Amino acid sequence: GHLFQLESHKFERGRGRCPFDPSSSFTSILIGGELFTGLYSDYWGRDAALFRTMNRMVHLRTEPDNERLLKEPKFIGSYMIPDNEDHDDNKVYFFFTEKALEAETSTHAIYTRVGRVCANDMGGQRVLVNKWTTFLKTRLVCSVPGRNGIDTHFDELEDVFLLQTRDNKNPVIFGLFNTTSNIFRGYAICVYHMASVRAAFNGPYAHKEGPEYHWALYERKVPYPRPGSCASKVNGGLYTTTKDYPDEAVHFARSHPLMYQPIKPVHKRPILVKTDGKYNLKQIAVDRVEAEDGQYDVLFIGT
Ligand SMILES: *[C@@H]1O[C@H](CO)[C@@H](O)[C@H](O)[C@H]1NC(C)=O
Repeated sequence: GHLFQLESHKFERGRGRCPFDPSSSFTSILIGGELFTGLYSDYWGRDAALFRTMNRMVHLRTEPDNERLLKEPKFIGSYMIPDNEDHDDNKVYFFFTEKALEAETSTHAIYTRVGRVCANDMGGQRVLVNKWTTFLKTRLVCSVPGRNGIDTHFDELEDVFLLQTRDNKNPVIFGLFNTTSNIFRGYAICVYHMASVRAAFNGPYAHKEGPEYHWALYERKVPYPRPGSCASKVNGGLYTTTKDYPDEAVHFARSHPLMYQPIKPVHKRPILVKTDGKYNLKQIAVDRVEAEDGQYDVLFIGT
């Protein structure tokens, strides 16, 4: 859905800009002349990555063959959401599903994720050259609390909608989810505030000591600058590019892309659940309207 000008008489590569197979999942956002995409870039549909391609900045991508970063993702959406007035602190958020390595089953369960990068990431100098050094992700939970503590999860994100508010740093996020279970079928809509998104990314990292260990809470010292933070003035201005980040911080980011805490929806439950099985719900849009007795969010849910 994006148009951009290509120079004539110049050889242009499509890799990283459009999916090899148009039927595979794809997301893109154009920010200040830079194209951010999530796509499968090869014929075999194995090389899934988040890219930044265009003219001005260096081309970046997720490190290939690192399943900790992305495992068979389905890309749903991408948005730039600023954290503050400092443009160097701008972050791009990717919504996708993937096979969750931390789910302790032989066939990995599907989870919905929010991943994010700094828009001004320049990659590393010695490690992660031309790769994201600021990528982090966490689970986006949409579940109905059950008796005896067992929740019903809606793990398959179908669509996401950002409702802009007067404050561009704090849009309201609406997610339309499907279940992945073959026993229980249904859809749910969950709402998230940016405060919970930021809290998860500012929280503890998940850690895996070795192949025989479970993913657990990382409790030791976190390197500086904190992995996932941008080279910006608000972060102390000590670093003006991620290329100057100490190797230790870049190594840590590479091995700890997953946050320990998931993002929970407003009121810790969906605002709508549909289990009648009549429709295959695929898209959502939201309009906030003023009525005589207050404000309403009108949901448009498409098949
Ligand atoms: C939701 O999940 C069910 C079961 O896996 C599947 O049959 C259905 O196509 C899914 N709906 C959409 C909109 O993809």
